[in-house]
Amino acid sequence: MGLDIIEVARIESLAARSKKFLPRIFTDEEIAYCRLKKNPWPHFAVRFAAKEAVWKALGQKGLTLKDISVARDKNGRPSVLLRGKKVNDIELSLTHSRDYALAVAAGLAH
Ligand SMILES: CC(C)(COP(=O)(O)OP(=O)(O)OC[C@H]1O[C@@H](n2cnc3c(N)ncnc32)[C@H](O)[C@@H]1OP(=O)(O)O)[C@@H](O)C(=O)NCCC(=O)NCCS
Repeated sequence: MGLDIIEVARIESLAARSKKFLPRIFTDEEIAYCRLKKNPWPHFAVRFAAKEAVWKALGQKGLTLKDISVARDKNGRPSVLLRGKKVNDIELSLTHSRDYALAVAAGLAH
């Protein structure tokens, strides 16, 4: 299991400081999804939290944050991709308010 919380303003400020921040952390698909939103920052922040939550759940130090990404089904339900491939045995739940974004990742028992 993995859990992460982040301040939305922290992600906005990291992105303002360096143009390289977003493409270093997020996939093109994640950037496109967040950019469509009126206020993209809670959506970027929650995906950052999701990457850290999944990283904690997997306990795999070989993965970078960009290797882990968030996809969505037609209802908006999030799922985990590892290097672009859907991972079926990790469930993800995300929430964001104006100031904070939080993610929980849980591995399913086989
Ligand atoms: C899903 C729902 C509970 C989100 O609650 P909320 O208080 O508005 O928003 P939260 O900050 O708690 O959560 C937002 C995150 O929930 C997740 N989410 C969205 N839809 C979801 C769903 N159907 N199931 C699980 N998670 C969902 C997403 O990761 C979203 O983050 P994102 O927009 O950055 O991708 C709310 O939109 C809802 O009740 N929807 C009903 C389902 C629905 O109508 N789906 C659309 C069908 S067309």
